[in-house]
Amino acid sequence: MTNHEVGVGLLGLGTIAGQVARVLQERSTALGEQTGVTPVLRKIKVLPVDMNKPQAQAMAPGLMTTDEAEFWNTPGLDIIIELIGGEHPALEYQEKALRMGKHVVTANKEVIAKHGVALMKLAAEGGLHLGYEAAVGGGIPLIAPFQRDLVANKINGIYAIINGTTNYILSRMAQENVDFTEALAQAQKLGYAEPNPRNDIEGIDAAYKLAILATLAFRSEVKPSQVFHEGISRLTARDFQYARELGYGIKLLAIAKQANSQIEARVHPVFLPCDSFLAKVNGVFNAVLVDGDLTGQVTFTGKGAGPLPTSSAIVADVIRIAKDIAAGAAVPPAFEARNKRDVIAMEDIITRYYIRMSIADQPGVLAQIARTLGDHNISIASAIQKQADASTFAAEIVIMTHPAREKEMQAAFSEFKTLPAVKEISNFVRVEE
Ligand code: HSE
Repeated sequence: MTNHEVGVGLLGLGTIAGQVARVLQERSTALGEQTGVTPVLRKIKVLPVDMNKPQAQAMAPGLMTTDEAEFWNTPGLDIIIELIGGEHPALEYQEKALRMGKHVVTANKEVIAKHGVALMKLAAEGGLHLGYEAAVGGGIPLIAPFQRDLVANKINGIYAIINGTTNYILSRMAQENVDFTEALAQAQKLGYAEPNPRNDIEGIDAAYKLAILATLAFRSEVKPSQVFHEGISRLTARDFQYARELGYGIKLLAIAKQANSQIEARVHPVFLPCDSFLAKVNGVFNAVLVDGDLTGQVTFTGKGAGPLPTSSAIVADVIRIAKDIAAGAAVPPAFEARNKRDVIAMEDIITRYYIRMSIADQPGVLAQIARTLGDHNISIASAIQKQADASTFAAEIVIMTHPAREKEMQAAFSEFKTLPAVKEISNFVRVEE
């Protein structure tokens, strides 16, 4: 069997890149024997501050450079792996590599979510690959199945837990009855949450990943700015208690649906029936449920982050590209966003709601609340009243609604605030069945 060497250049040497470098070096021969292509790591571009990191100390000194020109001029770089993260200069590095005729592999969800369609066009113009399997769901195969295995389907919807940090926090809140701040502190202590966890807890990371999956699934560009996102920080132990009582779990769900040539794309906490598959996915695990018209529901689950699973996806992209290089095969565009679908504004989404309010415990208050909801075409499915506090004459009421339009729900909330008997709208969470 002939063996073809393919040169690889690596941009970045953080935890993920360090692991990728290790796999490429340690498994190069074995991969060559098994696949017929041997990836050879030829140069790593690092920042001066990275030179002292343990992963840098483990590399042969000649392999690393802090000099951009030296990196780009290294002979025999066929594939560039960009793992510096963030939008800039990662985007410019990927563009430069493609313009120089080099294939690109990346785990950068922000760049792919914001610029993926344009980058794929650039890659296709040059007959090059852009591999980004690692950008969503770490080691879980997701991009390739959408590009290949599910291609005969009309995808009706995607329902996904695609942020491990928030799933860990919500699992702790559900299992240990702790509040958000305490669960976040635990996640940070264990190194799951970043020191600045905003992108995770505000749903921004999940929105990037959903934009990537929805674009692929519906073959229509969905920009991250079109994905509504709301985080998990306002959830309390009390909401979890009520969810349990009502037969639900709470998850940060990324939802993308296609109906009547329109796309719905949103990330927010949801009540999910506790016996549903997604409600049972706990800890840092990710899970993606795809509803195809031919396949029905297909689920993918596994570790959605971390150096080992992410390196699996990155090296698989490298090998797939290396095989095409070795075969001298022309590269057909992996994907084109041929459809032009509108993304529905959040205010027009229709869903059910859980609402928790503190109200005055006096005659006629429930009637006022029901009237306000009724005025906005919102029908109550069930209501429970708890905990009348004798000292403040306050009671807590929890309402589950039938499907209602977001715009109407928000208008009802505004009106509740004007009612003297409503002391506080403590929380609301959308409900998915
Ligand atoms: N911060 C992400 C998560 C991992 O918690 O899932 C990288 O995508």
